Amino acid sequence: MQESVTLTYNGRQIQLPVVIGTEGEKAIDISTLRANTGFITLDPGYANTGSCLSAITYMDGEKGILRYRGIPVEHLAENSTFKETAYLLINGKLPNREELTRFSIMLNDNSLVHEDLKAFYQNFPRASHPMGILSSMVNALRSFYPELGTLEEQITITMTRLLAKVRTMAAMSYKISRGHKVVYPRPDLTYCENFLNMMFDTPVKPYEINRAAVDALRVFWILHADHEQNCSTSAVRMVGSARVNLYAAISSGIAALWGPLHGGANQAVIEMLTQIQADGGNYQNAIQRAKDRNDPFRLMGFGHRVYKTYDPRAKIMKKMCDELLESLKISDPLLDIAKELEEVARKDAYFIDHNLYPNVDFYSGIVLRAIGIPTNMFTVMFAIGRLPGWIAQWKESMDDPKWKISRPRQVYTGANECDFVPIHLRP
Ligand code: CMC
Repeated sequence: MQESVTLTYNGRQIQLPVVIGTEGEKAIDISTLRANTGFITLDPGYANTGSCLSAITYMDGEKGILRYRGIPVEHLAENSTFKETAYLLINGKLPNREELTRFSIMLNDNSLVHEDLKAFYQNFPRASHPMGILSSMVNALRSFYPELGTLEEQITITMTRLLAKVRTMAAMSYKISRGHKVVYPRPDLTYCENFLNMMFDTPVKPYEINRAAVDALRVFWILHADHEQNCSTSAVRMVGSARVNLYAAISSGIAALWGPLHGGANQAVIEMLTQIQADGGNYQNAIQRAKDRNDPFRLMGFGHRVYKTYDPRAKIMKKMCDELLESLKISDPLLDIAKELEEVARKDAYFIDHNLYPNVDFYSGIVLRAIGIPTNMFTVMFAIGRLPGWIAQWKESMDDPKWKISRPRQVYTGANECDFVPIHLRP
């Protein structure tokens, strides 16, 4: 028998069905609530609201579990390539050899971008933030690569184009911002190698592939590949629900990710650690400010809406950070500050009581710095990693037979009906 809950109101009762996920999560299906009762629900920030059924990513915030299509993220970080993980998220299964070869060929074939795109990059003001540029440029892709119909094969081409071109565009943007010659993708390099080569190869200093850096980038991107219904993914689904083209939906995801409470936190963490370093390593000031309710300052890279324990991605990132710095023989004082800050925060009653632990962004910036990525491109790196997730979630929503345009309601708290006052009578 299907479980249900009983809602009692004004002496009446209605039964609301309970939906149970494959991991036993329970949700009350309120889709008939308004029709039957006239009520809507109110849930600021959607902290208790499930917006969809999804078979892509599973998270357990209390236990610190993250799985893509059932596979623990730790196993993927250990064994998979980013390309394979992207395929898994989008297609629901790991590719066999033939599927992987076909996917690799498609990514390679689509990795160039239209030369006219360069003109756009050259005309952004020099101080533009790379996330603003990326969001605009992904939207602009629609003009260069017009709408593809609804055939499965054509949708696949659009998705592959995005995966292949956004990586090229990010590196191109960096080169142009430095006034350097653009480096094109190479068919003999892997997805991660290609990106690093496009970023760092110059005519006067050819890029030598560094295995440790390539591997760190692979893990970094896998850890960011999906995170179920977070702010940017919800933006992609919501904007996509208006049946806008995929480029526009992804562009909105990039804009949402830019925020310092979301993907922008990786840049904000480094800025915070740099400030602490400039203050002579005084992290107590940051701790005190984060605890002060009257101060909007927050410890960046700490806390998460879903994780109430150590973010499993942060665990991997922290370990990788140590290994990478050792392998590259880099000593980064910001890593020492980050570790001390974590130690102090994790012993502090405020952080314990609020279940605040490091999230993925706390150590990721130090990894990216070690690879040589400039700080203002950190969130772009997050965006490239999150692309497979956004695409998979968009595709799932497009294929949903119960699809509806996203359109929440509100509880109106403004003025009641009142008269229009002509300007000469207004106080
Ligand atoms: N520093 C200090 N206090 C915090 C922090 C923090 N980083 N995060 C949450 N709190 C406090 C908050 O002040 C509130 O306290 P109280 O209940 O006493 O008023 C309580 O914890 C709950 O916070 P919330 O804002 O209601 O929680 P949320 O689920 O809405 O916010 C968050 C989640 C990630 C936006 C928040 O923890 C935060 O702002 N963290 C810093 C930014 C950050 O690192 N973002 C990256 C998130 S992981 C990458 C991603 O996937 O986006």
